[in-house]
Amino acid sequence: MVRIVPVASGKGGVGKTVLAANLAVALARLGRVTVLVDLDLGASNLHTCLGIKSSSTGLGALAWRQERSFDALVMETPVPRLHFVPGDGLLPGTANLDHSIKRKILKGIASLPADFAILDLGAGSSHNVVDFFLASSRGLLVARPETTSVLNAYSFLKTTVWRLLFRAFPRGGQERARLAEFAARRLEGSGSSFLDLADLLAREFSDSAAAALGELRSFVPRVVLNQGRSRADVELGSRIRAIAGRNLGIGVEYAAFLPEDASVPHSIAEREPLVLTRPEAPYSLAVADLAARMAAEGPDSPPRLALDDEDLASLAAAALAAGADPAEGS
Ligand SMILES: Nc1ncnc2c1ncn2[C@@H]1O[C@H](COP(=O)(O)OP(=O)(O)O)[C@@H](O)[C@H]1O
Ligand SMILES: [Mg+2]
Repeated sequence: MVRIVPVASGKGGVGKTVLAANLAVALARLGRVTVLVDLDLGASNLHTCLGIKSSSTGLGALAWRQERSFDALVMETPVPRLHFVPGDGLLPGTANLDHSIKRKILKGIASLPADFAILDLGAGSSHNVVDFFLASSRGLLVARPETTSVLNAYSFLKTTVWRLLFRAFPRGGQERARLAEFAARRLEGSGSSFLDLADLLAREFSDSAAAALGELRSFVPRVVLNQGRSRADVELGSRIRAIAGRNLGIGVEYAAFLPEDASVPHSIAEREPLVLTRPEAPYSLAVADLAARMAAEGPDSPPRLALDDEDLASLAAAALAAGADPAEGS
């Protein structure tokens, strides 16, 4: 079965697209059949990172109902074992994607005859973006080691957790009504926390809530810290895990620490994935390391990416040493 790896972030411009492209190339180079899907509809630019022209039919054609089959959109790339599903630059954004089209895309992705499907998502927390992120219980969440980016990542997780719970209960059921009521009260500032909500659900709806809360427990998103410059950045990154654990009661893992690397913008200008043109660049090494750990993780085996704060610190040390970044130790 294909392993779906959505790549999301709270805000745009944090490096999702570059990561999706380089990670997919690295997985293909490790022998894994990989499909890269451009789901940043309305602002699609993944093809530029791959050096592919934008003229091919993409997901927009499904949305406009000019094309009926998702499979027909999968195209070859110059990289062996790497396939690509173009997005669309004209759609008014993922947020406005029709429900039935979203289901069709998700179904198409889930039945791809591939090892990995890497989804480059749009920024923000609209239902559609969140639903694509929830296509896996271990999606990648990209953040920069800055307070605003960390808070944006946390907001994204909060929205996602609400959405997950909401979807875990039957349509039209009392549970959903209770959730909506709780959310409204919270907006008024009554101060009840998300964990109080979990308690309340467990008390009032013991059977359905047990299943829903079980789903919540198996949701363990993975944070990628991008554009790290110093070891101190690790600390900011570990705040995401701390607040998500404390306020939402969910576990968060780290997937990688990717260093700030001047050759990244250069590779975008050249329209070539950095892991291909400069595999020895610090960014390439860190992405290749992530790809190797993902490839070693079997579809049903326990997660191997379960990095804790100390593991992240040692990854950061290695990534920064590879670049001999002048900011190191500052
Ligand atoms: N590790 C990095 N080092 C240096 N620049 C980076 C790095 N990651 C991303 N960038 C730059 O950040 C910009 C935004 O990246 P992009 O992948 O388009 O973000 P997003 O898809 O999240 O909007 C790009 O111009 C890219 O060159
Ligand atoms: Mg992008």
